[in-house]
Amino acid sequence: MTPRRLFVTTALPYANGRFHIGHIMEYIQADIWVRFQRMRGHEVHFVCADDAHGAPIMIAAEKADLSPQQFVAGIAAGRKPYLDGFHIGFDNWHSTDGPENHQLAQAVYLDLKKAGLIETRTIEQFFDPQKNMFLPDRFIKGQCPKCGAADQYGDNCEACGAVYAPTELKNPYSALSGAQPVLKQSDHFFFKLSDPRCIEFLQQWTTSGAVQAEVLNKISEWIAPGEDGKPKMGDWDISRDAPYFGIEIPDAPGKYFYVWLDAPIGYLASLKNYFAKTGRDFDAFMADPATEQVHFIGKDIITFHTLFWPAMLHFSGRKVPSRVYVHGFLTVNNGEKMSKSRGTGLDPLKYLSLGMNPQWLRYYLAAKLSARNEDLDFNAEDFMLRVNADLVGKYINIASRAAGFLTKRFAGQLTHAFDAQGMAILQALRKAGETIAEHYDSREYGKATREIMALADQVNAYVDQNKPWELAKDEANNEKLHQVCSVLINAFALLSRYLAPVLPALAREVEALTGLNLDRWDATEAVKAIEPYQHLMQRVTPEQLQALFEPSPDEAATKSDSDPNLPDPNLPGGEAVAGSIGIDDFAKVDLRIARIVECEPVEGSTKLLRLSLDVGEGRLRQVFSGIASAYKPEELRGRLTVMVANLAPRKMKFGVSEGMVLAASHGDEKAHPGIYLLEPWPGAQPGLRIR
Ligand code: 2FM
Ligand code: ZN
Repeated sequence: MTPRRLFVTTALPYANGRFHIGHIMEYIQADIWVRFQRMRGHEVHFVCADDAHGAPIMIAAEKADLSPQQFVAGIAAGRKPYLDGFHIGFDNWHSTDGPENHQLAQAVYLDLKKAGLIETRTIEQFFDPQKNMFLPDRFIKGQCPKCGAADQYGDNCEACGAVYAPTELKNPYSALSGAQPVLKQSDHFFFKLSDPRCIEFLQQWTTSGAVQAEVLNKISEWIAPGEDGKPKMGDWDISRDAPYFGIEIPDAPGKYFYVWLDAPIGYLASLKNYFAKTGRDFDAFMADPATEQVHFIGKDIITFHTLFWPAMLHFSGRKVPSRVYVHGFLTVNNGEKMSKSRGTGLDPLKYLSLGMNPQWLRYYLAAKLSARNEDLDFNAEDFMLRVNADLVGKYINIASRAAGFLTKRFAGQLTHAFDAQGMAILQALRKAGETIAEHYDSREYGKATREIMALADQVNAYVDQNKPWELAKDEANNEKLHQVCSVLINAFALLSRYLAPVLPALAREVEALTGLNLDRWDATEAVKAIEPYQHLMQRVTPEQLQALFEPSPDEAATKSDSDPNLPDPNLPGGEAVAGSIGIDDFAKVDLRIARIVECEPVEGSTKLLRLSLDVGEGRLRQVFSGIASAYKPEELRGRLTVMVANLAPRKMKFGVSEGMVLAASHGDEKAHPGIYLLEPWPGAQPGLRIR
């Protein structure tokens, strides 16, 4: 068999927020597939990146008083705990703002232009005269033209569901400045997707087996001839005017690529960056007809990936995707805990911080995933059942039944003189390998795990029939006990191999236990001896699940889904007291007395002051603090205050901030303005710890 050459990606997440459970599900789905393909001996390169560009990110950065680059760098810095935490093994994590993407996006564009597929048109768009910028649809609000509801977005009404153009809104205003927008003309670039060449190519590509049947159904309307004989596909506006955080369009000053133009090119950019780092040849790899390009995505971004992206690639003379695998959405507890602002009610980092095993989630999602583009629900009871009854009860149980006897009675040595029944079971397990492999390959992980659990059932039936714990009572049964336990450990090792794409860390532990290599799918080696057994996996507890879905204090105080931080005047200081923590949690925060040695305004910021703090370290720390509205620099010089001394340094627009000073304020700062710095009683010295 010649190994497949696979280039695998997941959708690039916007760099404007933390991961939610939907991201994690997609990454786990792809990661399982990648690990499986590697076990089969294929060459796989698995990359992702932050999707850094676009107006929303630019505006969020401005609000945070950061440059867009600093803002997305901050988001990127927070990715690792999620990825490592859930054993998601991307080979590379890059950014669409990297130099490779700038270069590739411009090259793709120029190639499309050369192909005669780029056109310039003048369009009219709302412009914010105060902010001096064209407004993206979602930053224009006004009264619904149909029902008159106030404060509706520029594209649709949440009150009556009407869909319209932003220019139809009554009394429109800019969501950025409140100013009344004016209509202004601008030249935009369009990718001529309605060109017959594009339509013809897309009709062919979409029916080449690259997409699932239900996906093809969805997109056909755009490329199949309509009632008038013409497909619905229109041309695609790929440019935006400055100010915009994005990639400049060559020979068009002040024009940038729309974020969705350079986002998928970011797949190539991340691979290129990875290949450069590892001394591989990107161009040769992409030119190789054997290279398969595979994208895992969610159902919300189908048109971008199955129409725009393949056309961009094809007409710029590049390799087109071999497969686009679309999954549905993840709901949590039947969607009841869904919160628009938070993604869903299952916070991945909270899950990890509760000490919940990431492999439980991987297994649970695998058990529910199919190759179809359908939604799936995380249900707490179902989760507990599948983890405790199946994963631990059926599978882990096999090892714990047998390992102790082998260590205590047979010095960890296994026999290969199996009984007939045991032999038959091991054979059945080996034979099932190909079926399970087909399920993994076709992303039918639910089928794969069901098949594996059915095998575990057979093994458990063998346990029940032979009762090793009974055999162990009489030394005369030693040989039988040895056989049965040896069969069980071999069966366990086989099941572990089949589960390794889903449970990668456990597989490494089983390797340590059995001395086998579980990174190949079809190895036939038997276990010769085992190391002393340590329990491999705990059961999930109801308390963990309860804690996982317990609303955090700010959520509990939330009155509306769309505004999670609504202050409440009935609460002390305008917000609920945070959930209780242990003394250990508190001890993690290192609070110190600090002297404000120097204090000055920050040019370009009305909010911040720059403080130089002495914390008794023999050097000064620079800290930026949003207290300029409350204090003048000269008031603060020489005073003592309290700082968080072990906060990781944070890169801000104006420099690095090496800590944080503490100040009190009301939950509703608008209604109750005032910021009050803390100051210790006389006698305190810089560097003293607060406990
Ligand atoms: O929908 C999203 O989150 C986009 N950031 C996905 C981009 S995928 C690829 F095109 F970069
Ligand atoms: Zn309406």
